[in-house]
Amino acid sequence: MRRILPLFAVLLGLALPVSSLAQADAPDPTMLYHQHCAACHGVDRLGGIGPALLPDNLSRLKPAEAVEVIRGGRLATQMPAFGEMLGEAEVGALAEWIYARPEVEPSWSDADILASHVVNHYHGTLPDEPVFEVEDLKNLFVVVEIGDHHVSLLDGDRFERIARFPSRYALHGGPKYSPDGRYVYFGSRDGWVTKYDIYNLEVTAEVRAGINMRNIAVSADGNYVLAGNYLPHSLVLLDARNLELIASIPVEGLDGDTSRVSAVYTAPPRNSFVVALKDIPEVWEIRWPEERAAGDEALVGDFALHRMAAPDYLDDFFFDPGYRYLVGAARGGQGGQVFDLDSEAKVADLPLEGMPHLGAGITWELDGRRVMAIPHIDRGQVSVFDMSDWSLVSEIATDGPGFFMRSHANSPYAWVDVFFGPNHDRIHVIDKRTLEIVETLIPEPGKTAAHVEFDRRGETLLLSIWDNDGYLLWLDANTLEELGRMPMNKPSGKYNVWNKTQYEEGTSH
Ligand code: HEC
Repeated sequence: MRRILPLFAVLLGLALPVSSLAQADAPDPTMLYHQHCAACHGVDRLGGIGPALLPDNLSRLKPAEAVEVIRGGRLATQMPAFGEMLGEAEVGALAEWIYARPEVEPSWSDADILASHVVNHYHGTLPDEPVFEVEDLKNLFVVVEIGDHHVSLLDGDRFERIARFPSRYALHGGPKYSPDGRYVYFGSRDGWVTKYDIYNLEVTAEVRAGINMRNIAVSADGNYVLAGNYLPHSLVLLDARNLELIASIPVEGLDGDTSRVSAVYTAPPRNSFVVALKDIPEVWEIRWPEERAAGDEALVGDFALHRMAAPDYLDDFFFDPGYRYLVGAARGGQGGQVFDLDSEAKVADLPLEGMPHLGAGITWELDGRRVMAIPHIDRGQVSVFDMSDWSLVSEIATDGPGFFMRSHANSPYAWVDVFFGPNHDRIHVIDKRTLEIVETLIPEPGKTAAHVEFDRRGETLLLSIWDNDGYLLWLDANTLEELGRMPMNKPSGKYNVWNKTQYEEGTSH
């Protein structure tokens, strides 16, 4: 009792001034937040039952949508409606307040990471035989349903759902498989890294690596997971077995400035991680012991950090299949640049102004040379380059800005969606030899059709109807005939085990 009384008194004390304030002066959002929201979204706004409510984390939610959410709640979630309890002015003040930076920049220390770490099943303790039967374990798909934060596991031969399980809030940057395809790792917007055992349909371990995270990468040998954060400015290296913390690495450039991490990548032939940085003109590589070279800085234990000065701020990388060259987008939409990771120098400028989506680029063989194709987020165009001399081969005009591109070594077609603008329900089929659009599909008029993924053989392809009332559609990859559909809550990305673990040329990594 001794504890409950003072708390009760505090709550009463808070409630009185708030209601009298609401009638007289402007509402005090800090007080309102602590009274109505902190229990779920965290005293420090870092999240709890509900997601973190910080400006960076809310970058994809429009302020007007935030007002709607607070007033009306979110159906079928724990987010209550406050429209009856709070007045317009109070809701408005709260909505504005959550987009403002907190007075004290929130921190996420090693102690916080360690305290968040949960292991449900230690590595090696669950059975090695799958608990379900499929023809081909390498032809499974993981599908992210962002509408209600779930993940579906599909059999890619029979197109049946094996499991559907809740994910952390707002998965980000694509799940990553272990090299044998047994485990899949997820990263969430609010910094959670989750390891899932596909064979046993169980979450085995979780850890919160940051407050606002961009994505994760799994090393080619399967031993490590790297998480890249916006907040704090850090990289977090984890042991892939149980997600134990190995090191958190503050991102501080050669001149001492700190930076957000745009993205982390695994570079299999180099046996390393490569890191894209938002606020400093550098490219970082984290290498393994046997890869250690002159100029490496000792990092921790066996790891070496190599910081390379880049000619510009480079964001969103695309790699050549040998992982020697990376293509990055220079800051301010000034074009693309090719950076040689061996000589540590820029080797070409590319006419890729605006917002190319390099992370979605793909490559294929055309007349004996390798070409790469890149969609654009701000214009209806796919740019195709010859990778032997980085010359522009073609600029294919599309019906609007795109987001994802996909193909498969066994398919004659490359697919690009129209993601933004009035034609967002269209998806184009490009002939990989002629570089012409040979077909434009509108699977569901008015609804976004996006993100193609092929099965392991390149015979069937899956497509998302990106809507809360959406579905997954699968087609014959050659005749483009519909083969089936499955209802899903805003399906976004789909990830085939084989294509991802074999670094199939038609998929981004
Ligand atoms: C009982 C727990 C609970 C309380 C209390 C609560 N929320 Fe939420 N809130 C949630 C959950 C859970 C979600 C995520 C819903 C979903 O899955 O989309 C959420 C989502 C939100 C979102 C959308 C975030 C995004 O990234 O899209 C906003 C904004 C929000 N809440 C604001 C508030 C405010 C402001 C208050 C206080 C007035 C509040 N919430 C009180 C649980 C809660």
